[in-house]
Amino acid sequence: MNFDLVIRNGTVATASDVFKADVGVRGGRIAALGDGLAAGREEIDAAGLLVLPGGVDGHVHFDQPTGDESVMADDFLTGTRSAAFGGTTTVLPFACQEKGKTLRAAVDDYHRRAAGKPLIDYAFHLIVTDPTEQVLGQELPALIREGYTSFKIYMTYDALKLNDRQILEVLDIARSEGAMVMMHAENADCIAWLTEKLERAGQTAPYFHGVSRPRVAEREATHRAISLAELVDVPILIVHVSGADAVEQIRWAQGRGLRIYAETCPQYLFLTADDLGGDGFEGAKCVCSPPPRDAANQKVIWDGLTGGAFQIFSSDHAPFRFDGPSGKKVHGEQAPFRCVPNGIPGVETRLPLLFSEGVMKGRMELTRFVELTAANPARMYGLHPRKGTIAVGADADIALWDPSRKVTITNGILHHNVDYTPYEGIEVTGWPVVTLSRGDVICRDGALLAEPGRGEFLPCGLPAPARPKGSPAPVLPF
Ligand code: URP
Ligand code: ZN
Ligand code: ZN
Ligand code: ZN
Repeated sequence: MNFDLVIRNGTVATASDVFKADVGVRGGRIAALGDGLAAGREEIDAAGLLVLPGGVDGHVHFDQPTGDESVMADDFLTGTRSAAFGGTTTVLPFACQEKGKTLRAAVDDYHRRAAGKPLIDYAFHLIVTDPTEQVLGQELPALIREGYTSFKIYMTYDALKLNDRQILEVLDIARSEGAMVMMHAENADCIAWLTEKLERAGQTAPYFHGVSRPRVAEREATHRAISLAELVDVPILIVHVSGADAVEQIRWAQGRGLRIYAETCPQYLFLTADDLGGDGFEGAKCVCSPPPRDAANQKVIWDGLTGGAFQIFSSDHAPFRFDGPSGKKVHGEQAPFRCVPNGIPGVETRLPLLFSEGVMKGRMELTRFVELTAANPARMYGLHPRKGTIAVGADADIALWDPSRKVTITNGILHHNVDYTPYEGIEVTGWPVVTLSRGDVICRDGALLAEPGRGEFLPCGLPAPARPKGSPAPVLPF
């Protein structure tokens, strides 16, 4: 039987194996892996290239309402375009509940924002900010059963944060329904107190954003999140971990056999607190939370990535333009750091940065790279094995990488709608040269070959890693 497409002569890598094979695609799925497959209607010669599962970016913010006059620069078109050019074929942005409104309203609004735009497949995480009786008793369980099987909760930000009692109640629903909980772990009162002190002392430049969110505030919240999860007996995933102290808490919990998972992001490997300094307002470009730390902490984050404390590596793409009225300068260049929109772009540079500094510099094996960037996020969010691997039956979401291509990252070569990249000038080795989504070539050598709206919404299954320790039933693959 013939194939729609055969990718020949490449080196395939999954989270467990690296091998030479042709990949036969039929009906948007991988139909065969093997030597000398029969002809395809279309053929791609991948000699000298790596054939990797398309990246799964489990943490992006596209077109998310911010609660003030700022506006995210990327919507579902420009965000997924940037993702695709960076070798990512699945994204999970957040449908955020507005306090006083329902979760359902957030989901409906977010589907409207996506409609007609995505170039690649996408699922939604929920953000639970207002866990009323109605939300806990009805909406959240119903949405989980409809395929919104992961949600984020915040321990900081006034508009988003839950108190410990609320966190316990939400964790309890996650446990009984089998959903994955993502935790933003920073101590809100520590940050508020430090922010006020800094402001009284006139220390309001972007640099002091980092000072206001020290590692101990992250450590304390991480420990508290772990304790609350242990009390409820439910796995949680601590997102965007930045500091050595938080890593220590996570290792401690994992060492005790708790199902505590952790995510980190490029900004904690490639940026430091110094990037928040510099002339005038320039540091606002790197204002994100938690903030970048220093070289010693970067090293601990690397060790956690290579050694296993972290399960997933995501971008936390949160795009605001530097210039213009609705981005980082929404309240002017003299605005205190408290008023600078939090977040940095990175959906396109996530994979090349980790590939170059991780795989090409010998810090991690190619299988570990695939695990952190594709297979594990798919597992954590109930999309495996449809996404995140190269296997018979999986969607043909594939990135062909030229491992020898040298690229200097500049904002000019990127495809997001942000007017800067925090990684300007970094030279990387290795770049995705062709991206396929469900068998369609959507990017090739810098050209976009996909129509807006071709990306499909993915209802997610219940993630196996979200099962509580005390759960009696076996995890069966059928
Ligand atoms: O600064 C950040 N990370 N902004 C995005 C929102 C979040 O907390 O992930
Ligand atoms: Zn305002
Ligand atoms: Zn967060
Ligand atoms: Zn985020």
